[in-house]
Amino acid sequence: MPQNKDRAHNEPFIRVINIRKSFGSVVALDGVNLDFYRGEVTAIVGDNGAGKSTLIKVISGVLSPDGGKLIVNRKSYNFLTPSQAIELGISTVYQDLALVDCRDVATNIFLGQEPLKAGLFVDKKKMNRESEKLLNRLKVHIPSVTTAVEFLSGGQRQGVAVARSINQRGKMIIFDEPTAAMGVKESARVLELIRSLGSDGFAVVVISHNLHHVFSISNRICVLRNGRMAGDFRAERTSPNEIVGYITGTNELNTEVVKRGIFNHA
Ligand SMILES: Nc1ncnc2c1ncn2[C@@H]1O[C@H](COP(=O)(O)OP(=O)(O)OP(=O)(O)O)[C@@H](O)[C@H]1O
Ligand SMILES: [Mg+2]
Repeated sequence: MPQNKDRAHNEPFIRVINIRKSFGSVVALDGVNLDFYRGEVTAIVGDNGAGKSTLIKVISGVLSPDGGKLIVNRKSYNFLTPSQAIELGISTVYQDLALVDCRDVATNIFLGQEPLKAGLFVDKKKMNRESEKLLNRLKVHIPSVTTAVEFLSGGQRQGVAVARSINQRGKMIIFDEPTAAMGVKESARVLELIRSLGSDGFAVVVISHNLHHVFSISNRICVLRNGRMAGDFRAERTSPNEIVGYITGTNELNTEVVKRGIFNHA
């Protein structure tokens, strides 16, 4: 389990305040309040259609909310654009999207910020060298940084996407279903990578339907139900059964959390 030493003294990296988002008559987010901290792996769980992906799309600037605000570094935003989110250090890792398949690993890691030689030419050697260093640090094993991304497995692709996030000076790294459609061994590697990002001080957010995976990596588990926060737990103080109760609605709203205020949960 990742250590969470600094959490008590940390300000949230990002505060999500009363965020609302509808698609026509469908209310996807109905006043969501949630804080995310560095050095912590936060899982967001919930049934299909609970609003999980919508929430991370709002945080990463892909969707504009209808109401509420986001506070990052004490600055308040009604919405973020994708490039603003990246500048603020918020990055999302999708399993299949966002990598350029036909380009090699190093090019993907440096996409849009290639180092130049003599101010004119892309310094490919430097890109390769830096990419290798970064992937080694992350313990992501790839045949070569000159391999085209299309030949990589799902787990290796995620490793490359994480390396790119870090290269873009990401502080918060969001994973939407990182282990979906992945075998046991590959899942284990990705989970290990996620855990280590938490211990390294990143604010890590993971959406997953796999409670076994969720419990193996998270410090904190937040449940969304029908676009609302239904519970917010320290992982060590809850159980898969209890979480399932909140996901399905068998358990009452976590009134203790509401009373204490979800910003101040211990
Ligand atoms: N672009 C869109 N247009 C219309 N409705 C949408 C759109 N995106 C999401 N929704 C609706 O908003 C609700 C929340 O969807 P969301 O994708 O956030 O759920 P989720 O919790 O990620 O579900 P899943 O576990 O299936 O991925 C659903 O009812 C969904 O149909
Ligand atoms: Mg989703």
